[in-house]
Amino acid sequence: MSAQALLNEIQELKIKRNALILAHYYEDGDIQDIADAVGDSLFLAQEGEKAKNPVVLLAGVTFMAESVKILSPDKTVLVPDPNAGCSLVDHSPYEKYLAWRRQHPDAIAVTYVNSSAAVKSITDVCVTSSNAEKIVNAIPRDREILFGPDRNLGRYLSKKLDRPMTLWPGSCEVHVLFSSRKLHELKLEHPHARVIAHPECNEVVLEHADVIGSTSRLLQEVRENRAVNEFIVATEPGIFHQMKKARPDARLYQAPAEGSCACNECPYMKMNTLAKIRDALRDLKPNVQIEADLLSKARISLDRMMALTRGESVTWPERFNG
Ligand code: 13P
Ligand code: SF4
Repeated sequence: MSAQALLNEIQELKIKRNALILAHYYEDGDIQDIADAVGDSLFLAQEGEKAKNPVVLLAGVTFMAESVKILSPDKTVLVPDPNAGCSLVDHSPYEKYLAWRRQHPDAIAVTYVNSSAAVKSITDVCVTSSNAEKIVNAIPRDREILFGPDRNLGRYLSKKLDRPMTLWPGSCEVHVLFSSRKLHELKLEHPHARVIAHPECNEVVLEHADVIGSTSRLLQEVRENRAVNEFIVATEPGIFHQMKKARPDARLYQAPAEGSCACNECPYMKMNTLAKIRDALRDLKPNVQIEADLLSKARISLDRMMALTRGESVTWPERFNG
């Protein structure tokens, strides 16, 4: 089948299913181009929740699709490949996370959305890299904070906001591979370039950065900072697709990994293909299934996140009793 025939089929099925297609910035360009909306993990959750469509296909990783399902249980939420996981989810198994949570029953558990529905169900509030500062700042200063599963994001927030946090030792297998030594060399080659980095990078890499933020914040920097036309980008290269569209005049350099591998590509995001999207729309599966009791428990932490993101106030539990 030709590429155009596949695109036509996806469009026909999308109309037939009244489906909304959402894609993350780390997807391949051809997937981003067929999506109704492309964004960071917060934006995708918000768009998925507010959509009127009965079917949402999320081209990203599974925890992103789970967030949409938890916020909108009545929708059918399709994933092109159910194996599109995330190392942060793998690094935070429920039983171990629960044991850690029980060791700190008086703390507020703040959990990155890059986590399983089960871990969300024992969480007080979720965050993404775009709303984390706002949410941590809303937690009373006298409360202890547990932050997981990404220790780099947690360490970055703790330092920036001057809030002590107990950190879970998880990391993103993609972002920890950037080399600070090679980044230093690249900066010497391009002294006018602005270094922009995702907070999942190691601290030694973040120390080189002029801007640290979510994927949408990094894209915004390239789009809006017209005084600069060279950027060194320390995040997954899928985002170059939108950066190039926004600033065809700018020169973009991928921050290097140690060795000569292309290992800064997220292997999970790259599992999705146009053919799998077509199949999911045709078959209405794979679709996210979360057991009702787990879903309603996990929803509490996501609802609190959404409310705080909208600027509403929330109440905090005194103690963890799970
Ligand atoms: P964003 O929320 O910044 O898009 O990040 C999601 C992610 O998985 C980064 O690795
Ligand atoms: Fe998970 Fe890292 Fe991939 Fe993001 S880039 S989905 S944190 S493995």
